[in-house]
Amino acid sequence: MLKNAAIIKKLTLEQKAALMSGQGEWKSYAVNNQVPAMFLSDGPLGLRKQSGAGDHLGLNGSEPATCFPSSATLANSWNLEVVEDVGQALGKEAQALDVHQVLGPGLNIKRNPLGGRNFEYYSEDPYLAGKLAGRVIRGIQANGTIATPKHFAVNSQETRRMASNSVVDERTLREIYLTNFEIAIQEGNPKSIMTSYNEVNGTYTNESHHLLQDILRQEFGFDGYVVTDWGGDNDHIAGIKNGSNLVMPGLKQPGAREVIAAVQEGRLDEAVLDQRVDELLNVVLSSNATKKNDAIKVDWDHQHQVAYQAALKSIVLLKNEADVLPLTQETRVALIGDFAANPRYQGAGSSLVNTKNLETLKDTAQAHGVTLAGYAQGYKRVGQSDPALIAEAKDLAIKSDVVVLNVGLNEVSESEGMDRKDMTMPANQVELIQELSQLDQKLVVVLSAGSPVEMPWLDRVDAVVHGYLGGEAGAGAMWEVLTGAYNPSGRLAETYPMSYADVPFGEEFPAHRRNSYYKESLFVGYRYYDKAQKAVRFPFGFGLSYTSFTYDNLSVNDQGVEVKVTNSGQVAGTETVQLYIGKAETNILRPAKELKALPKLA
Ligand code: BGC
Repeated sequence: MLKNAAIIKKLTLEQKAALMSGQGEWKSYAVNNQVPAMFLSDGPLGLRKQSGAGDHLGLNGSEPATCFPSSATLANSWNLEVVEDVGQALGKEAQALDVHQVLGPGLNIKRNPLGGRNFEYYSEDPYLAGKLAGRVIRGIQANGTIATPKHFAVNSQETRRMASNSVVDERTLREIYLTNFEIAIQEGNPKSIMTSYNEVNGTYTNESHHLLQDILRQEFGFDGYVVTDWGGDNDHIAGIKNGSNLVMPGLKQPGAREVIAAVQEGRLDEAVLDQRVDELLNVVLSSNATKKNDAIKVDWDHQHQVAYQAALKSIVLLKNEADVLPLTQETRVALIGDFAANPRYQGAGSSLVNTKNLETLKDTAQAHGVTLAGYAQGYKRVGQSDPALIAEAKDLAIKSDVVVLNVGLNEVSESEGMDRKDMTMPANQVELIQELSQLDQKLVVVLSAGSPVEMPWLDRVDAVVHGYLGGEAGAGAMWEVLTGAYNPSGRLAETYPMSYADVPFGEEFPAHRRNSYYKESLFVGYRYYDKAQKAVRFPFGFGLSYTSFTYDNLSVNDQGVEVKVTNSGQVAGTETVQLYIGKAETNILRPAKELKALPKLA
């Protein structure tokens, strides 16, 4: 039974056919006074509304917008309220900018640390990724903006992204690569979903009856509409037949003609076309595209505050030898590193935000009560070590008590459309760490990167604080953690292996031929390192605090698990309780333990 039968009856075959693809880069198709056009914009980290020339690679300009921390960053908060706030702020900003649908969140599984879009995704763990995405979706949709979880599914490499076939067994597909979407759909009830470019087991996801009908609609109860990734329609008719509702960007006239011909030649049942139109109209006709939003204005300060809070709660303290942190007001700090003046705070590609209000470590130090001995660039963003810059950095360092060195991955290391080549940091930055670590001053490394790096230098430095890609307000948030105004509460949402050589089947990633074999099956991330009992640099869920916590009275009963957590240190702090389960005796090959719950505070 069609919900919009009365309208669909009035539409001509031409109009129904045209509705199956968009008009131009960002708009869905409108039918006179009956169906409004929706405006769709990226993306997960902030809005990329292109009113001029459009593209899906982040090349042409977009309107200024709030840049929130990237999903890889937000995931470290393990905090559902925080991510829901970000979602809400995104939804509001969208409504004020007349964007009806936000193309995010991205929640693909971080199968390998070199995945080029890992910075845009949450975790190697499907439960955590699904929970966080679900709450972001809820936030975005709170005011009627449509969220678009992406990319459905098994889309974990960028190399050959439009011509790659993910070969994965059904159990792994379900336990790892679909559980994230299942949870996100149940918790967030998204009104749309974006298919991925790749094939799964030989069928393009956008044409897969198994994925779109059997699993997405029947099993997961998804009741929104399905949109392709940009240019991700392989066979338009097969897409419509199997459950895809909208091809983006628009296919113009040829798209509609193809559908009309398929119906007229009996290759596409018109009842199926009506069904797809109905699914799409259910969403369009209840969307904000049907209303005028003149009264809605963005409160940019509020948006910045949301970005700031999210960054604050996502920072992870990885090392703090002899309590070098927090810094006191008397500490004279040498601030070193190009990123401290020109932050690395977001990724590249379709998620690129034209940031409205960017903070830097250099400019915000004073406001956070930090006494700077000075700033030195230390290294060039791209290229070789520069002896003059190193000398200048060392000169500054010796005039200070503590060096705060901001290093990480540069823009060319992490981007949509390509995978990383290795897990190393740029050699010139590593050399600077070595040089500064030879001085008497304490060395605090602040990392800015959207995915794991090797840290062969870890023993030589006193502290490491990971800000990931903190968005526009990440710098101020970082000072709050460095000075102890906020006690760090972030926990890693992915494993940091000792070196890339430890990654299962790492030498086969990314696949350079059509087939990408998911040979490690369920043993992705910590599921592998635990089972193989392999030492890692930092485990999944790791993060230090300026205080300590004790756990007592663990009890397991039919209602769940309870534990008493006490702050046993000197300062206030937040603990992230993580519940994992495993099976002591089992005949089935399974991970040693799996994350199954986030805390509910009593
Ligand atoms: C990306 C999507 C994005 C779309 C529109 C594609 O290249 O894979 O994530 O939403 O472009 O910009």
